[in-house]
Amino acid sequence: MKEQLEAIRKSALESVAGTKAASELEALRVKYLGKKGELTGLLKQMGGLSAEMRPIMGQMANEVRASLEDAIETQSAILERRVMEIRLEKEALDVTIPGKKLRIGHKHPMYSVLDEIKDIFIGMGFEILDGPEVELADYNFTKLNTPDDHPAREWSDTFYLTEDSNVLLRTQTSNMQIRAMETRDLPIRVMSPGRVYRKDEVDATHSPMFHQIEGIVVDKGITMGDLKGTLNAVIRKIYGEHTVTRFRPHHFPFTEPSCEMDIQCHKCGGVGCPTCKGEGWIEVLGAGMVHPKVLRTCGIDPEVYSGFAFGMGLERLALGQYKISDMRLIFENDVRFLEQF
Ligand code: DAH
Repeated sequence: MKEQLEAIRKSALESVAGTKAASELEALRVKYLGKKGELTGLLKQMGGLSAEMRPIMGQMANEVRASLEDAIETQSAILERRVMEIRLEKEALDVTIPGKKLRIGHKHPMYSVLDEIKDIFIGMGFEILDGPEVELADYNFTKLNTPDDHPAREWSDTFYLTEDSNVLLRTQTSNMQIRAMETRDLPIRVMSPGRVYRKDEVDATHSPMFHQIEGIVVDKGITMGDLKGTLNAVIRKIYGEHTVTRFRPHHFPFTEPSCEMDIQCHKCGGVGCPTCKGEGWIEVLGAGMVHPKVLRTCGIDPEVYSGFAFGMGLERLALGQYKISDMRLIFENDVRFLEQF
């Protein structure tokens, strides 16, 4: 038995030292030390030994087991280290190779203008509201005193999402007037910028998607004087202190009276030039006193409260501010264009 133990020790230690993978090592552990392993098998034969030989052989068998376990543990550590070394070598980083240059973007010119305008309104105590671009016809039209047979509701002008014309991509941010009045306590001072959609062909001044900024003020005793004073202050902050403005009568279904606001052409000083198309004036926004019907629809008593509202196109403001000649440049996001701002 002694010879057998020696033989096992020798061959096991040699095999263990020669392993190249953890799976091989595990197979050897099972082969020698497992339940049906060679050493275990030998130990089972100890019963046949004489009483004096048994403890001697027992001790030797334990030594063989211990040295085998030791060897396996040592080899396991060696293999693990080798695996790690190979991985480190494979994943090595050459930190001296020049890196890829990150292009850091910057704010889009239209959003610079928007942020400036938001600041102006926030300074005047307005709350900024966000609203849905997918809207109910009720909010985009009906509650804004724009009934079913109004031309603005034509299929050829509006992106409807359902056959019954009840859901659409909003054609104006004026839906936010209704949403503001329905959700806010009086008095209300809200401005709401966002995207709007119309079936327009793309050209230098049109896009099927563009941005508007809506504003609404409702309180006791609000007059056309408040409308003019507020909008003059805002426009002069944007275009300069000495900007000359005028208000022209106009029609919108949801305001009465309604008007459009023009600024005198900053290019020609009102004489007429290509920038103002020979008019001397450039239209900047639509506005008016909130129609009593619209107030009543939102549960506000027009005998007690009054308000004004306005809507302006954001792209047009950005084009004017940065002297950009074509609206398509705003949406194409060509970095050669954007980098100029
Ligand atoms: N929603 C109008 C448009 O898209 C602009 C507008 C006009 C908004 C008058 C208003 C307003 O709030 O009072 O042409």
